[in-house]
Amino acid sequence: MTRFDRFSLKSRVALVTGGGRGLGLEIARALADAGAHVVINGRTAATLEGAVNSIRASGCSAEAMAFDVADRTAQRDALASIERRHGRLDILVNNVGARDRRPLAEFDDDAILTLIQTDLIAATTLSRDAAAIMKRNEYGRLIAITSINGYVAMPGDGIYPLAKQGLTGLMRSMAVEFGPSGITSNAIAPGWFATETNAAMAADEDLMPFVRQRIPAQRWGRPDEIAGAALFLASDAASFVNGHVLTVDGGMTVRM
Ligand SMILES: NC(=O)c1ccc[n+]([C@@H]2O[C@H](COP(=O)([O-])OP(=O)(O)OC[C@H]3O[C@@H](n4cnc5c(N)ncnc54)[C@H](OP(=O)(O)O)[C@@H]3O)[C@@H](O)[C@H]2O)c1
Repeated sequence: MTRFDRFSLKSRVALVTGGGRGLGLEIARALADAGAHVVINGRTAATLEGAVNSIRASGCSAEAMAFDVADRTAQRDALASIERRHGRLDILVNNVGARDRRPLAEFDDDAILTLIQTDLIAATTLSRDAAAIMKRNEYGRLIAITSINGYVAMPGDGIYPLAKQGLTGLMRSMAVEFGPSGITSNAIAPGWFATETNAAMAADEDLMPFVRQRIPAQRWGRPDEIAGAALFLASDAASFVNGHVLTVDGGMTVRM
């Protein structure tokens, strides 16, 4: 096996939550390009179908699984179905991260619980149950998509950092607990990426002076620029990388 072969995901089965568009789709594409069979999750069947067709059109293997990650029964059914049909699950990318940009003072209790449920608790239960499947093959890759908001906070964004910093903590405790079973657990912290969710901000010329001042790369990240980090952490090339946060932000968080 050459060093480069270690990036191959041939015969691996991966689940990417929120993989129908944005960063999740770029990650799903990269894992499929490397040889994995990728199960793409999201709530909108039409979006998933388009994503799966685009991956299959490039000769790679993918399928759609529509469910809300916050639905525990749907989570359990999805994992059981993957194991029944594929006999394994090697890679889980917890990519779903709903946004609700408001100051904390404007969040009522239910709104706090709703965001935490989708952005943190869902990844917690899905990872725990996926790890049980991975343990059976003594191999696994758990990847959490956190955010630079896992390090820093922004005015008017009260709860999201809590979820992302909680996800970082989850990632580390899983690294310690599941490491002895051949499972690694890591995170990717994206900076500012021009996905659909940020389309209006990314198109706002008035914001560009701030972008150029705060991001050494002088621009928004392109969604495909997240893929390499995910491919590395999902592969055998990262067999001794465990409990790490790989920041992909053009240098935004290291600039004074
Ligand atoms: N873009 C950035 O600049 C940036 C920066 C830092 C961190 N991040 C993180 O990166 C991840 C992806 O961000 P993105 O910008 O690519 O997001 P996005 O464009 O909003 O895409 C999110 C995806 O998740 C799916 N989704 C949303 N809620 C879901 C749920 N409850 N159950 C299942 N699927 C759900 C959406 O599809 P449906 O609507 O069909 O379900 C969609 O495919 C998130 O965790 C985000 O917090 C992004």
